[in-house]
Amino acid sequence: MAIEKIDHIGIAVESIEKWIGFYRDVLGLDYTGSEEVPEQKVRVAFLTIGDSKIELLEPTSQDSPIAKFLEKRGGGIHHIAIRVDDIDAAIARHHEAGAKLIDSKPRIGAHNMKIAFIHPKTAGGVLIELCEPFHS
Ligand code: CO
Repeated sequence: MAIEKIDHIGIAVESIEKWIGFYRDVLGLDYTGSEEVPEQKVRVAFLTIGDSKIELLEPTSQDSPIAKFLEKRGGGIHHIAIRVDDIDAAIARHHEAGAKLIDSKPRIGAHNMKIAFIHPKTAGGVLIELCEPFHS
């Protein structure tokens, strides 16, 4: 199992429309589109930064995990996503190490990726997403 790169950094915002101007026009990142992820009740806007991305996450429902995050902490960095070439092996490795996983099996995330979250308690307070593209 190889760790490939930081795939993206997820930033929680109450409104993509409100914040896209800063990231695209002021910071100057390349906006490449947005997508709804019904399973996680979020809308995601993608901005390319080199070989990685910034994803702005906006809740589409009051019971979205992002809505809860915004309520508790306001906006800000929500998670860091690390791309691996074998997510099943990565999950197994975390299990063996006794790390706390939110997802014991991969699920479907944005960009047609298999994803699994590692609990922030295990990672010094950071929510880490493991991800693997379906066709890697
Ligand atoms: Co993500």
